[in-house]
Amino acid sequence: MKVLLTGAGGQLGRALMQARPTDADVIALDRVALDIGDRAAVLAAVAAHRPELIVNAAAYTAVDRAEQEPEAAAQINHHAVQYLADAAMTYDARLVHVSTDFVFDGMQGQLYYIDDTPRPLSVYGATKWAGEQAALSAPNSLIVRTSWVYGVDGANFVKTMLRLMAARDEVRVVADQIGTPTHAASLARAIWALAGQGAAGIVHVTDAGVASWYDFAQAIQDEAVAIGLLDRVVPIVPIATEDYPTPAKRPAFSVLDKSASWALLGVPAAHWRAELGLMLHQLKDMTRG
Ligand SMILES: NC(=O)c1ccc[n+]([C@@H]2O[C@H](COP(=O)([O-])OP(=O)(O)OC[C@H]3O[C@@H](n4cnc5c(N)ncnc54)[C@H](OP(=O)(O)O)[C@@H]3O)[C@@H](O)[C@H]2O)c1
Repeated sequence: MKVLLTGAGGQLGRALMQARPTDADVIALDRVALDIGDRAAVLAAVAAHRPELIVNAAAYTAVDRAEQEPEAAAQINHHAVQYLADAAMTYDARLVHVSTDFVFDGMQGQLYYIDDTPRPLSVYGATKWAGEQAALSAPNSLIVRTSWVYGVDGANFVKTMLRLMAARDEVRVVADQIGTPTHAASLARAIWALAGQGAAGIVHVTDAGVASWYDFAQAIQDEAVAIGLLDRVVPIVPIATEDYPTPAKRPAFSVLDKSASWALLGVPAAHWRAELGLMLHQLKDMTRG
């Protein structure tokens, strides 16, 4: 199977390369190799490579900066996805696109199902929702909504916490936003499996379980100290969202219902704590050199 992977230099892009199926011939293009915001370049790349599958891991992911740069965010998260969908239609490829729990406002206080109506609170969420609709304009496209992604590659909450916990005497973390941390490696495996099965439409894929950012931080510290990635324990102070104001509003509760993707994959996802342990062990092996 010939696959064109866009955004290959990002956190998920790199995890997708790591987890690629042995029978996949993946042409991995990072932002320098292919700017998905350039319509002509997208069409030319798809015309040149003629992939059966286009997997889009590229996105404008600076959630707070997007509030000041709505057009730049829309160009990548919405219009560029339309370019990819148009190219997929023109050259008979299937598009796999990645979206986010931030399409929801988080106010219903219970699981979000695939057909719940998005009500994004932020520019990032709104542009990602528009991107979902653009992706759906190509026949048989697959949109994978996920949440709270972290991996050994790229900047993410786990790495930020490790840095702060090593440097500060106390770390303050929001305790009233609830979601599900998701390991980029397990997400990548699920994306390849769903794409390989020809799954289409919108699916939700995250690791299992539920956490606040505070719970996540506590688990990061517990595990990192246990395996020697951190050499001391610092107090983690739970704070409210209002005590940590950010330009973009985030959903208070954005746990996604995964039952449909679990049914397709044939197994439930691993719990986020188990996946966090795997990532931290991998990080430790990497820092050892
Ligand atoms: N991270 C999360 O917590 C999270 C949660 C839910 C959903 N998602 C979704 O998951 C997907 C992957 O995100 P990620 O965590 O891997 O983010 P990431 O590490 O920021 O990766 C995004 C990649 O897209 C690239 N990119 C930006 N503009 C581009 C353009 N015009 N053309 C080509 N590439 C471009 C970025 O390159 P530069 O670095 O050079 O800008 C970066 O390599 C995205 O669709 C995101 O919306 C992420």
